Amino acid sequence: MSSTDYPRPHAQLHLGVFFQGVNHWTIWSLPESGSQIDFSSFRRMIGTAERGLFDAFFLGEGLRLRESGGKIHDLDVAGRPDAITQLAALAGLTSRIGLVATQNTTYNEPADLARRLSGLDLLSNGRAGWNVVTTDNAWTGENFRRGGYLDHADRYVRAEQFLTVARQIWDSWDTDAIATSTDAEDWADPKGIATVGARTSQFDVEITPTLPRSPQGHPVIFQAGDSAEGRDFAARNADVIFSAHGSDFADALAFATDIRARLRTAGRSEDALRILPGTEIVLGDTEEEAAEKAHWIRLHQVTPATALAIAGQVWGIDLSDRDADGPLPAEDPVVVEPTGEMGSRRWKDPREIVRTWRDTAEARGLSLRETVIALGPQRGHVGTPAGLAEKFAHFVRAGAVDGFNISPYLTPDGLDDIVDRLVPELQERGVYRERYAGTTLREHLGLAGSGFFR
Ligand SMILES: Cc1cc2nc3c(=O)[nH]c(=O)nc-3n(C[C@H](O)[C@H](O)[C@H](O)COP(=O)(O)O)c2cc1C
Repeated sequence: MSSTDYPRPHAQLHLGVFFQGVNHWTIWSLPESGSQIDFSSFRRMIGTAERGLFDAFFLGEGLRLRESGGKIHDLDVAGRPDAITQLAALAGLTSRIGLVATQNTTYNEPADLARRLSGLDLLSNGRAGWNVVTTDNAWTGENFRRGGYLDHADRYVRAEQFLTVARQIWDSWDTDAIATSTDAEDWADPKGIATVGARTSQFDVEITPTLPRSPQGHPVIFQAGDSAEGRDFAARNADVIFSAHGSDFADALAFATDIRARLRTAGRSEDALRILPGTEIVLGDTEEEAAEKAHWIRLHQVTPATALAIAGQVWGIDLSDRDADGPLPAEDPVVVEPTGEMGSRRWKDPREIVRTWRDTAEARGLSLRETVIALGPQRGHVGTPAGLAEKFAHFVRAGAVDGFNISPYLTPDGLDDIVDRLVPELQERGVYRERYAGTTLREHLGLAGSGFFR
């Protein structure tokens, strides 16, 4: 297929790096693994991403350590300094790359968060982004003495109201509210500063915001959440979707088609939003070498202890003293009915899951750990730099994605080969920038306007 046969023959790939912070996919146990929380790690990784002309450096967020069966789950990488604090420090060490903070709308308040985000936009000269999440677990609420706090449906009601109030705050200062000359009588013109009052089912806000309009007007809005409500929320409000649909072409295209339909329903253009799925990328000199490396990486991600922890969640029993390299547990799983707190992670009957696991293990002669690996999530793309550049050009020109948020399996050097080897191959194929054309995150993403859409 020649590039002109594609629906989007001139499409450009956008890359971000997603520094997850909490997960078992980032390997901490190799000699080359660096700190997951030292500032030097963040600085090293964002420097590589900016050298690779990435659109954004993107941080996840979680407000409580993960637990399993009432115990802290101590196998994951954890830590996560507050994203906005961290990005503000990184703003001073970089000049172009976007700085995206995941911040949830369930446990924050709009007057405070809108101010911190527009502060980041001001301090970084227009590079701030906000990944709006609603957070799908009740135990985070316990941190705030609120217990479960909000039902799934109400979380998006609150998210929508939150964003509306935030936008009013970002719009409260007229563009010319501040004196542009030292001859002016006043530094700020009070007539150009509006007081924001909002009384909704979730908020009671009365605020005269402290900050003038930030360079992008509104920080770029990302959204991560996969339910129908989450997708509709994104179609109405987001500039970028951080999706989980980027490994398989058909799945990515189906997701993009669904989002485009929702954008039309919301009265927005299909080009108003970028779809950037999360992905892991493994490179090798040959396809075989890449596949071998991917398998080696998977064995370090799904260690025996992690495999037993994952299986323990399925069975609802503590399996930590079993042999991960032996057969599947003989017991039936304990069935606990869903609590209704979960988001789009649909509840599945563990008996069904165990049946699939047993069938697969039997048919392929797999151990428990090998079964966990075989049936675990597809994490992304494996291949040679040239092969993956071809594949990504196909994905983006066909309109299945607008780019990827890459989660490296190694901190802080896990982006190096991607920047040094994959980026030049993408550039050669004309699907990736040769230099930053603009200065703001909105410009990098090729998003129209200044973010003042309604
Ligand atoms: C790709 C992806 C990344 C997410 N990252 C985070 C995160 O960093 N922090 C967080 O609290 N929630 C995160 N979430 C959870 C969402 O905010 C949301 O609470 C959850 O997906 C349930 O909503 P849903 O039913 O619409 O999917 C993420 C969700 C997705 C799909």
